Amino acid sequence: MLRFEPYNLLQSELMPTAIPAAKIKDYHYVCLQAHEEIQADRHANILGFYELPEQEISHITSYLESIDPSFDTMVVLGIGGSALGNRALYSALRTERNLPRKLIVYDNVDPVFLHEILGQLNLDTTLFNVITKSGTTAETMAGYMILADLIKKRYPQDYTSRIVITTDKEKGFLRQVIKQEGYHSFVVPDNVGGRFSVLTDVGLVSSAFTGMDIAALLKGAASMRKRCGELEFLANPAYLNGLLHYLYMREGKNISVMMPYSNSLYDLADWYRQLWAESLGKRHDVKGREVMVGQTPVKALGTTDQHSQVQLYTEGPNDKVFTFLSVENFTHDFTIPNLHPDRPEVSYLGGRRLSELLNAERLATEIALTKARRPNANIVFPALDEFQLGEFIMLFEIQTVFTGKLLHINPLDQPGVEAGKIATYALMGKAGFERELAEIKAYQEQRKL
Ligand code: PA5
Repeated sequence: MLRFEPYNLLQSELMPTAIPAAKIKDYHYVCLQAHEEIQADRHANILGFYELPEQEISHITSYLESIDPSFDTMVVLGIGGSALGNRALYSALRTERNLPRKLIVYDNVDPVFLHEILGQLNLDTTLFNVITKSGTTAETMAGYMILADLIKKRYPQDYTSRIVITTDKEKGFLRQVIKQEGYHSFVVPDNVGGRFSVLTDVGLVSSAFTGMDIAALLKGAASMRKRCGELEFLANPAYLNGLLHYLYMREGKNISVMMPYSNSLYDLADWYRQLWAESLGKRHDVKGREVMVGQTPVKALGTTDQHSQVQLYTEGPNDKVFTFLSVENFTHDFTIPNLHPDRPEVSYLGGRRLSELLNAERLATEIALTKARRPNANIVFPALDEFQLGEFIMLFEIQTVFTGKLLHINPLDQPGVEAGKIATYALMGKAGFERELAEIKAYQEQRKL
C-alpha cells in the first residue's frame, strides 16, 4: 500500500514555518463543501474517472488474445492525456516487472523523433494504437496519416489488423475511419477527460499488451478511492495534500516540484505535470472572474538533480512545495563491492546496496530542505507494482479535482490548449479557420523588426 508522508508540509518543531494542523481544522467546512461539490459532479456523471475501477476489461483481454501473437511492440500515437499515462505506466514497470512486450510512445511531430522510432521498429511485429479522444488533434492525425499510409502500402492484405484506434464512441473523424476501414477500436468515455483517462482503454490497452496486470491497477485505484472518501481530512491523502498545496499557493509557493528517487518513476512525474498544470492553471474562476491561478509543476530526478537543481531548491526563492517519490524495495539491486578497503574516501560505500545509497540521499535531501524551511512530503512505494501505481493515479486525480474546487476553477477544461489547437489549424490551412489565419498574418507583420 502506498504511504503518504506529509510530515514536513505540516507544522512541527522541525518545520515551524509550515502550515499548522489547526489551520487544516479551520478549513474543515471549506473542504466539506469541496467534497460535496465533487459528489454532486459524480452524481451528474461528469467525473467518470472515479467509477473506472468497476469497469469491464474483458474486451481488452479478448482483443489481445485475438491479435497475431508475433506482435512484440506497440506504438502509441497520441499526445497529452492520450500518451503520458501510457508512457508513465510502462516506464514504471518495464524493468521491475520484466515486461515481455515493448511500448513506444510517439507523442511529438518532430520528424527526427519519428525517423528514430521507425529505425528501431520491425514493422512485421508492430501494432499501432492511435489514441485521440477528439479524433482531430493535428499532431496525432499527422502521425496517423504517415504511419497508416506506410502500413497500408507494406501490408495491403492485412493492414487493418496492424492498426487499432482508441477514440470517442461516436464523434470525430477517426470514428468514421474505423467504420470505413474496419479497424478494431476502443472507446474513450465521454465523461473522462484526456488527462484523467489513463485508467480507461486509453492506458489499459497498451498496459495489458506489454504484460501488465491491469486488474491490479484498477484494484489499487479502488483502494485509494476508498481512502480518499474519508471525511476526517487528516486521514485523506488526496484532500489533505490538495488543501496543503492550496494553502501554500496562497502563501505564494506557486511551484510544485515532484522528485522521484527512481528512474522508473520519472515519467510518472511527467504525467503529474500535465494533470496539475492543465487542470489548475486557469485564467477565470467558475463565476467568470479573472483569477489567473495555478501552480507550476516541475519534475526533478533524485539523485541526478541533486547535482543540478538542489542548490536552487535549498537556497533560492522559497516558492516551492516538494513531493518526493521513493521506492522501498527494488527487484534489481547491486551491492557495492569493497574495492578499496584501505581507502576511507570510498570504503564506507563497500558492502552497501545501491538502493540504500539512493534512499539515504533522498532522506538527506529531505533533511536539507526541511532545515531550509522548504515544505516537502514523501510518497513511498513499498515496491513498484500495478496496485500501487493504480493507487497513485487515483490519489492525484482526486487531489487535482479537489484542489480545483478549493480554487473555484473548473479543473476539467483546457481553454488555453484549445486556443493553440485553433491557431495550428489556421496556420496549416484548415477550412473554417480563415479569420484566425488573417489575425495570425497581421500578428506576424507587426512583430517584424
Ligand atoms: O487533457 C486533455 O484533455 C488534453 O491534454 C488532451 O489529452 C490532448 O490535447 C489530446 O487530445 P486528444 O486525445 O483529443 O487528441
